[in-house]
Amino acid sequence: MQTAHELFIHGLADMLSGERQLIDALATQAENATNPQLKKAVTSHRTQTEKQAERLEQAFKSIGEAPEDTECKGIKGLIQEYQTFAEEEDPSQDILDTFTIGAAMKVETYEIDAYNELIDLARSMKHSRAVKLLQQNLKEEQATLKKLKGFQKKIKPERTGHEEIDSRRSRTRRAA
Ligand SMILES: [Fe+2]
Repeated sequence: MQTAHELFIHGLADMLSGERQLIDALATQAENATNPQLKKAVTSHRTQTEKQAERLEQAFKSIGEAPEDTECKGIKGLIQEYQTFAEEEDPSQDILDTFTIGAAMKVETYEIDAYNELIDLARSMKHSRAVKLLQQNLKEEQATLKKLKGFQKKIKPERTGHEEIDSRRSRTRRAA
């Protein structure tokens, strides 16, 4: 690879793959979520993600290229991390909700950085239509991250784990 154009195409293909992987992953995460507001937010984010993938296809077309998707290993890893946790840690519902919020925030942060980088490249090559499309995706990711931060403040694990330690302590005290 030698040119900014090739790097740009590579980045677009990476994000198209990432968004497409997320369309499937978000369906599972919405199913797993128990907090009704979180469930609703994940479901609507999934619909948004479908539109983001479409915008990436349009960005390819806007520079006369056919849309392609190259496996995004970053998003793949983040999705795998969530799946492994959900399947192997036997989390209670509230713990899974808390984990889902954190996992989704990691994805958003990754996407925000990736879109910023792509917008920069597109600007330097004066691909104004692509810049607009990518900016729309970036704005949505930023709004989602903000929403998730709100959830992170509200949704907490029900048990801190301290009550077990405290009750053990008081039992010891009574025994003494
Ligand atoms: Fe996205």
